[in-house]
Amino acid sequence: MRRDIKIGLIGMGTVGTGVAKILLEKKGLLELKVGVPLILEQAADRHLDRPRPVDLSGVKLTENPEDVVNNPKIDILVELIGGYEPARTFILKAISKGKHIVTANKALLATFGEEIFSAAYEKGVDIAFEASVGGGIPLIKGIKEGLVANNIECMFGILNGTANYILTKMTDEGITFGAALRDAQRRGYAEADPRFDVEGIDTAHKLAILTALAYGTPLNLDQIYVEGISYITPLDIQFARELGYRIKLLAISRLRGKDIETRVHPTMIPESHLLANVNGAYNALLIRGDSVGDVLFYGLGAGMMPAGSAVVSDIVDLSRNLIKGGVQRVPALAYMPGGRKKKSVIPIDNLESCYYFRFSALDQPGVLAKIAGILGGYKISIASVIQKGRKIRGSVPIVMLTHRAKEAYVRQALKEIDELEVVRGKTVSIRMEDNLDAL
Ligand code: HSE
Repeated sequence: MRRDIKIGLIGMGTVGTGVAKILLEKKGLLELKVGVPLILEQAADRHLDRPRPVDLSGVKLTENPEDVVNNPKIDILVELIGGYEPARTFILKAISKGKHIVTANKALLATFGEEIFSAAYEKGVDIAFEASVGGGIPLIKGIKEGLVANNIECMFGILNGTANYILTKMTDEGITFGAALRDAQRRGYAEADPRFDVEGIDTAHKLAILTALAYGTPLNLDQIYVEGISYITPLDIQFARELGYRIKLLAISRLRGKDIETRVHPTMIPESHLLANVNGAYNALLIRGDSVGDVLFYGLGAGMMPAGSAVVSDIVDLSRNLIKGGVQRVPALAYMPGGRKKKSVIPIDNLESCYYFRFSALDQPGVLAKIAGILGGYKISIASVIQKGRKIRGSVPIVMLTHRAKEAYVRQALKEIDELEVVRGKTVSIRMEDNLDAL
């Protein structure tokens, strides 16, 4: 019987600090739940003198993560450095030494996950990554274990707290994109490179992980279609609102026969839907299983303590495995390695969606007819049109909603429309998802 479990932590930034705080300050509670003490044996960070809201006096500290990776006493290595390298090398090295791994590194797993997961499988160690998607929400465990009886049919996720915070601020307060981003950064939600948040890349990393878990397909980051939120203006948010919609950066993944679709883009969703009311730094994942129906996970997707909560839940899972000798009891990617099969991803051009278009066009006779003519030529059917205000000279916004139209045709139609003499500026197009409940 083990007397304790020893944990090594590399990376003491926001999340690492949260993990240390929980391990040290809730030691008693965790021991009651695990049976033996979880000891934070050693921690590494480049900035050891940085003030932190936790007393680390009882923890061996080092500036060199290699010290932790090579420490023979450590059972579980927690990687919270982030980024690709040296995180990848440290994880692979720790695996080769037989250590179990906990990481929150979605970028690394989405990109090099196949290499890392197979190294862990071959070596007979566990790797857990609850905090990589949805911060504190236990959705990975939910998919792997709670929903194990289901074929997953589709998922709709709000998976980036920063982007959601920005869109919420823009919607509620009418502030600019830049001001909302700075506010999110001050609150510690944003990635080191905020383009990952606002350009949809972080959401795509998370969707790649979820898609692999849900459908048993290899990680497919490079096949995910990605658009960010930086082109969304307060004007579009205002129009969406008047039409009864909210704009959310949505991760969508759906089974289509034997194939799947996977995409990340700003999406207009009906304001009455639960997902439209997931605001601020909150994340949510709506997941549909063929037995269970719809399940909604909701919670804080970023921040020191929520992400720390998820990391510690992984530490506890792996500790329990170690104590009972049940390593690799639950496959890291939900399916047994032999049961994972590649699914084809449908190219975005072949998908259909309803659209919101905002044209900037001169307010002259015949302009609408020209635009409508081009749309009609590409079999794009108009559902409604709004023009507000009147300008004798200069352009006015004309908003159109369409019925379902093929993506490739939309692209070609907008290219032609944007070349018209009477159209000033690039047309804004936002996909709409009206039928989140009944697909
Ligand atoms: N930057 C991420 C977010 C942190 O804003 O959601 C959590 O992954």
